[in-house]
Order: sequence, then C-alpha cells, then structure tokens
Amino acid sequence: MHRLTVSIVLLMSIGVSAVEESCDRHSGIQTECQVPFSTCGYTLRPLSSKFGAEVTGVDLTTVNQSCADALKQEALMYRFLLFRDQDLTWQEQIKFTNLLGAVFSETSSLRRPFHPKTPDPRIAYLSNDPLEGIPGQGVEAWHVDGNSVPAPHQFTLIYCVSATRNGPTLIVPLKEIVDMFTPEERAFLDSIRYVSGNNESITMPLIYKHPVRNYDTIVVALGLLSGQYILRQDDHDTILSKEETQRIKDLIEAKIIGSNLIYSHQYKSKDLLLLNNPSVAHIAGPGSQNPVEVAGLRLMHRSTVRGDRPPSKTSSIKYACAQFEPFASGYCLFSLKDSVFYPRYGFFDTRDAARQRCKSIDEGADLATIPNKKWNNLAKTIIERTGVPHWLNGTNPQEEDVFWGEVKSEFTNWHREQPNDHDGPEVCLIMGPFGTWLDLACEPKTQPGADPGPVITWEDGVRRKFNVYPLCGVLHKQS
Ligand SMILES: *[C@@H]1O[C@H](CO)[C@@H](O)[C@H](O)[C@H]1NC(C)=O
Ligand SMILES: *[C@@H]1O[C@H](CO)[C@@H](O)[C@H](O)[C@H]1NC(C)=O
Ligand SMILES: *[C@@H]1O[C@H](CO)[C@@H](O)[C@H](O)[C@H]1NC(C)=O
Repeated sequence: MHRLTVSIVLLMSIGVSAVEESCDRHSGIQTECQVPFSTCGYTLRPLSSKFGAEVTGVDLTTVNQSCADALKQEALMYRFLLFRDQDLTWQEQIKFTNLLGAVFSETSSLRRPFHPKTPDPRIAYLSNDPLEGIPGQGVEAWHVDGNSVPAPHQFTLIYCVSATRNGPTLIVPLKEIVDMFTPEERAFLDSIRYVSGNNESITMPLIYKHPVRNYDTIVVALGLLSGQYILRQDDHDTILSKEETQRIKDLIEAKIIGSNLIYSHQYKSKDLLLLNNPSVAHIAGPGSQNPVEVAGLRLMHRSTVRGDRPPSKTSSIKYACAQFEPFASGYCLFSLKDSVFYPRYGFFDTRDAARQRCKSIDEGADLATIPNKKWNNLAKTIIERTGVPHWLNGTNPQEEDVFWGEVKSEFTNWHREQPNDHDGPEVCLIMGPFGTWLDLACEPKTQPGADPGPVITWEDGVRRKFNVYPLCGVLHKQS
C-alpha cells in the first residue's frame, strides 16, 4: 500500500509535464500527437492513502469549464479536494460552484434559516458568531449534505473566510464504511430505507450505488437528522421504532469511529474544501462552536451542487450480454470509462487495481476475458463508443501467446507490430480504442523517458497518448 502511494505521487508530477513532450521521442520524427486531456497546470498531492488530495497551481477565480470539469473528475476520484490560499468573493464561489453543476439554493434547506448577512440564497454563512452567520451547523452528527431533499447533493464547497484555532472538519470515506459491515449486517441494512428527520416524506435506500462511481455508498445522517427508518421486505414497509433506528445509527457510527480512516482538516483562512458529497460523510469538529471571545471568529461560506437523481440500488452501468461459446449460459461485458476518471495523462490504475474496480461494481466480475472473435466484436463495440483503450484480463508472458488465467488463448487480435515489449517487458494486455490488442506494462511506467501509457499511431492514423480504463466481464446471473 505504501509503495503504491509513492508511485502515484511520482506519476503525478511526471504526468503533468509529460503532456508537453513530443509523442515521437524514439524515432526523432516530429509528428502531430494528440493528448486528449486538458492542460490545466495543477498538481495533486494525496492527503492520505485512501482519499483526499491537495490541489496546487490553480486559481479558482479564473478556471474555465474544461479545467473545472477536470477538477470535478479529480474530486470524484479522490472524494475530496483541498485548495489553499484562494481569494474568493461569494460571487466567485458561486461562479465556480456553477461550473461543477446546478447550484442548490442553500436557504431552501429546512434546517438552514436565512441569515441577515447572507447576500444570496445560493450561499450559506456559517459561524460561531450568530451575528456573522448561522451558528451550530454541521456539528450535531456525522452526515452527508442534502439529507432532507430527494437527492443528496453532488458537491459541497466549504470556503473558510476566517479560521479559529480549533474546529476542524472531520471527513470519512463511505465506500470503506460499507465494506466494513459483516455479511449479516449488510443483508439487514440492504432492507433499510433512510428517513429524513426533517421531512418524513424524504426516504431513500440507506445503502445505494454512488450515482457516478457506481460502487456502494451509504446515506449517513445520524442523530436528529434521521427520522424513524423503514424496513422494506418483499415490498412491504414497516416503520422501525426509535430504538431500532438508533441501533442502526449506532452501528454506522461505530464503523466510522472504528475505521481509522477519519481525516481531520484543520482550517487556515482561504482554504476551500470540495467534497464529493455521496462519497464522504463529514462533521464539524468539537471546537468549532467555541465562543468568539475564546477562539476568535469562525466564518465559513458554504455552497452546494444539487444531486441529479434520487439514490438507487441499481447502478447506471450498461452491460452488453451475449451467449456465445464458451460462455453459452451468458457472459456480460461492461466498461468503467464513465465511473473512473484519470483527468491527466499518465495517471491511471494498475491492472490489479482495475480488477478490484470491476469487483467493487459487481462481486462476480473481473477484467474481461476475450476468448474468440465473437467476444472481441462485442468488446470492440463497447470500447469504440468510449474511444479509449481498456485493460483485458489476459497476460502476455512471452512471444505472442496470451493467457486467460492459466489457459492459453487460441485467439489473439494483435495490433500491427504488437506485442513489442516496448520500454521493457510488457506482460499485460489492453484493447485499443479500435478493438486490436497491445501488450503493456501492468502498471503505468515510471522510468524516466518512458511514456506511462500506450502511445502509438492508431488505426485512424492519429498518434495519441492515452490512459487505460477497465473493461470488466461477469458471468450472466440468472435472475
Ligand atoms: C482552459 O484553461 C487552460 C489553462 O489555463 C487552458 O490551457 C485551456 O486551453 C483552456 N481551455 C479552453 C477551452 O479555453
Ligand atoms: C417534504 O418533502 C416533500 C417531497 O420532496 C416536499 O414536497 C415537501 O414540501 C417537503 N416538506 C417540507 C415541510 O419542506
Ligand atoms: C484474471 O487473471 C488472473 C491472473 O492474471 C487470474 O488469477 C484470474 O483468475 C483471471 N480472472 C478470470 C475471470 O479468468
């Protein structure tokens, strides 16, 4: 784990500058090379081994839409981002928020009354001084924002105008919390619907699929933020008692506290935290409401991006299924291009991490097996739509042989002049955007001068640098 973090950090600094390089440094011929990534010039530094990153080299008052899109993808991958030393007026904060999606009207939230100092309904002023902003917000319990509207918010932006010595925001990643439930706890929680404590007509599945990432996440809104939960069995709903609901909230809180994953952000003035709200729960730390005379003024400007669909247990992944031999009882392929984001060149998952991503979407899934032309054609139609190369599960230990696990493949579909063990041994297998195969190192290359990902002249005659995305396969489940 430690080694992985180090190589990611290395990649990041290399990745950004590599964009400027010619694609053709080996032959010395200068050809046009397309790099399908925005060059926004920022650098990322992970804040922990699991989640969170600090972004440097960006001024949020001047980012354009394409760089905001890249930052949004970073926020989805890292789950929260920290920007320091940002000079933001409330108008500039709303402008940036609006680049990330539809801005939610903060004052329409039931628990957030309009404060006289607030200049605009799209921004909330939160403070330990009741004259400067709404006091006591976000301290009561672990929560995700937007827990009393039909769809929790996509993003929460907390801009620190004035920091006190204490009063961090604590953040915890939710996929890991869901993964901590035992199978019995999980089976029970899968039948539970969250009910808002502010409006009992707001209900949603407690555990649901992240609307973009598609892995499991959970509606955390503990304490009084929760009403009495619903047990849904065979389409029959039973309202749980307060005590039964409390036991569920205690279970969630116990996992959070025992997770050892809580990240504590100590504010400096001019910090901006950007949370991908469905990915993390947060709480304002205990010192945040200390009186002004003791702690100084705490003032936060908060804006949020509204959720675009209610939580659902069904993922938005598009499966392409067929019953060709040797999977006559059915096998389905799916791309994770729209669930994972590698917004900078050279920064993408290793083949093993890509396998894990397949599994986190669908327990029985792995990277795709492509045993013959029929399956290759199906994979090709999926991949052509995405326009990017994908990992397959095959390996190419030597010469042209490909193995699916232990089994040697009778079928191969190599791109011309492949496999080539370019820049050292390339034992893994990818499918290019036009359906042909290439060998590639099983993780992005880090040695100086080597391109981290595949760089070739593709079938359309254009030379491009690419990252590699997971193509997953799962044996058809009879339903
Ligand atoms: C957005 O800003 C970046 C960095 O300032 C710049 O390189 C890029 O060309 C801009 N994109 C557009 C579409 O204006
Ligand atoms: C409760 O939620 C429902 C459904 O979104 C909404 O129509 C209603 O106005 C809400 N009630 C209050 C008091 O806000
Ligand atoms: C994927 O490849 C790994 C080893 O490279 C192998 O252990 C695993 O069984 C393969 N998965 C499938 C579904 O064949």
